[in-house]
This record gives sequence, C-alpha cells and structure tokens, in this order.
Amino acid sequence: MSDREAWERLRRSSAGRFGEDSIFGEGEPGARLAVIGEAPGRREVELSRPFVGRAGRLLDELLEEAGIDRSKVYVTNVVKVRPTRESGGRLKNRPPCAGEIREGLEVLEEELRLIGPRVLVLLGSTPAKALIDRSFTMREGRGRMLDSRLGLPAIATYHPAYLLRVRGAGGGDYDRLRQQVVEDLRTAWERAQ
Ligand code: URA
Repeated sequence: MSDREAWERLRRSSAGRFGEDSIFGEGEPGARLAVIGEAPGRREVELSRPFVGRAGRLLDELLEEAGIDRSKVYVTNVVKVRPTRESGGRLKNRPPCAGEIREGLEVLEEELRLIGPRVLVLLGSTPAKALIDRSFTMREGRGRMLDSRLGLPAIATYHPAYLLRVRGAGGGDYDRLRQQVVEDLRTAWERAQ
C-alpha cells in the first residue's frame, strides 16, 4: 500500500472514530513541513477543510509573506472535532479538553508518520504543550527549534487566531507579533529544505 493509500485509509478511520464532521489534515505525503493547529472551528466544519476560516485566511497571508506555498505544506490540527459549548442557544468554540487532545494525538502521530515532514510548526500552546512539553510557554519557547515528542524538530509560534484577537483589541503589538510568526515560518521552511 502506498503512503497515499495508507493516509486515505487513516482519514476514513478518523472520520469513523470522530464522526463525519471531523476535519482531517490536508496536503501531500512527502510534504517537508507540517503546520499543526489546535482544532477546527465552524467554517472548517462547513467546508470540511482545516484552516479556512478567519484564522486560516490569516495563515494563508503569513505563509505567503514567508514565501511558502500552502499547497507544499501539510496543514492539520491536534484535535479533529470542533470543540463546542452552548451559549444562548448557539454553539461557540471552546478550548479542547485533555481527553480530546489525547485522542487527537493518537491519530496525529500516525498521520505525521505517513506524511513524513522534516519539521513541524506548532500554532499556539495546545500543539506545543502536546508535542514538545506540558510546561511549554510561548514566552520562553516561541521561535526556538526544539525537539518534539515525535522525534522531529518543531518550532512553536503564535496562533493566527491569537493575532486576530490582539488586532481586534486594538493591540499595538499586532505588527510585531505578526512579523515574528512570518520569521518563524521562514525559519521552519528553510530548515525543512
Ligand atoms: N484554528 C485551528 O487551530 N485550526 C483550524 O483548522 C482552524 C482554526
């Protein structure tokens, strides 16, 4: 069985395990760089693709600024199901719980084994804590090439949703943080070549 066939099989088994609304990774086996987020949101579920909502569109811009073609990157999440809570009769996003992260990691490890990236970019502290160390903090670890639990080098950086929150709050820090993410993406891409 080719890696592509094994990946397809894993995608179907992930949908069987987590439900048809779950969102699997996107990209080609052999992609040298994998970008890993936390969990899909509403738009991702609507379109059945990772990182296609507001945060995803910002990720596209950041990749482009770093000179990286998204189609050459494997894009996925630790958690495959949108974590929700009800508020005023509507479903809102919530952070994933430990059990959801643990279950998602079981699939993610297999997913990355089949894709075979050389370097991981971890967006936000959920994938960084899950794949580098539970004590990881962005303040100390962001932008550094660290060893991940999967035996691959990994660089953690701010999640695009965080950048959007900083911008939404009128944060003067937005441009600086955004530039750091672009630099982290570039560093990871260069290391992956
Ligand atoms: N945020 C994530 O972490 N992943 C997505 O796919 C979308 C938003």
